Amino acid sequence: MTEMPETTEQELTDQVVASFDTAKDERFRDVMQALVRHAHAFVRETRLTEAEWGAAIEFLTASGHITTDTRQEFVLLSDVLGISMLTVAVNEPGLAESTESTVLGPFFVQDSPEIELGGDIAGGAKGEPSWVDGTVTDTDGNPVPGARIEVWEADDDGMYDVQYDDGALAGRAHLFADAEGGYRFWALTPTPYPIPDDGPVGLLLQHAGRSPMRASHLHFKVTAPGFHPLITHIFVAGDPGLDSDSVFGVKKSLIRPFDRHRAGTPTPDSRRLEGSWTSAGFDIVLRKK
Ligand code: BEZ
Ligand code: FE
Repeated sequence: MTEMPETTEQELTDQVVASFDTAKDERFRDVMQALVRHAHAFVRETRLTEAEWGAAIEFLTASGHITTDTRQEFVLLSDVLGISMLTVAVNEPGLAESTESTVLGPFFVQDSPEIELGGDIAGGAKGEPSWVDGTVTDTDGNPVPGARIEVWEADDDGMYDVQYDDGALAGRAHLFADAEGGYRFWALTPTPYPIPDDGPVGLLLQHAGRSPMRASHLHFKVTAPGFHPLITHIFVAGDPGLDSDSVFGVKKSLIRPFDRHRAGTPTPDSRRLEGSWTSAGFDIVLRKK
């Protein structure tokens, strides 16, 4: 009697799933068994050829080769496939009262320079100055004094400091909220930029006819004892890229007007700048643990 091919395929899947039954760590077992089930279903659904699987292995190998301490191709892959945002979504309780999260991206640096309240994160990065201020509160509206606010962004040429070879930190800093939970700093008006697209992920986007551009944004990571860390951005209202962000990171609640002011208009810290500048407000609400 000839065996039905489906049965043979299913038997193989069952065998591989069962091979993880002995794992001591329950979560590891569950995740690996789900991975095997879904990966096998993908191969079956697409009737994947050996040449296609070979190409996929080559793609992953090339992604490994291009990855360094400052260039993480696998993060980019996760981002352009929407897996990073889906992971954010399944880990967020979807409470309207707290600020929404979005992707971390590959350009966060652990030890950024500290600035005073009202200081400047630019550190030499080029761009139009932007005054950003707001508060950090809990979901009951109580201030979170001393909350640590990390901010980082690309310069006017669409480059993060770590993408230059000079080792200088620029366009990033951290500061601490005051006793009332208030914060304020100078940054650069965010501009659109492409995710690094000179590697395998760039080729993948090209092949798909997709743009590598990210909607203009400023990154935030906000932490305080007793609260869930918040990793998010603010996006620029009116930015043409809001509907086509290459990593699917835009959320409506994170879009803010960046109001433009003419050269010479007094700034909130009573200065008169030679060029135009913008201002944006962002009140941050953290979720208690
Ligand atoms: C970023 O916003 O820095 C970023 C996010 C995902 C991929 C590449 C860059
Ligand atoms: Fe970014």
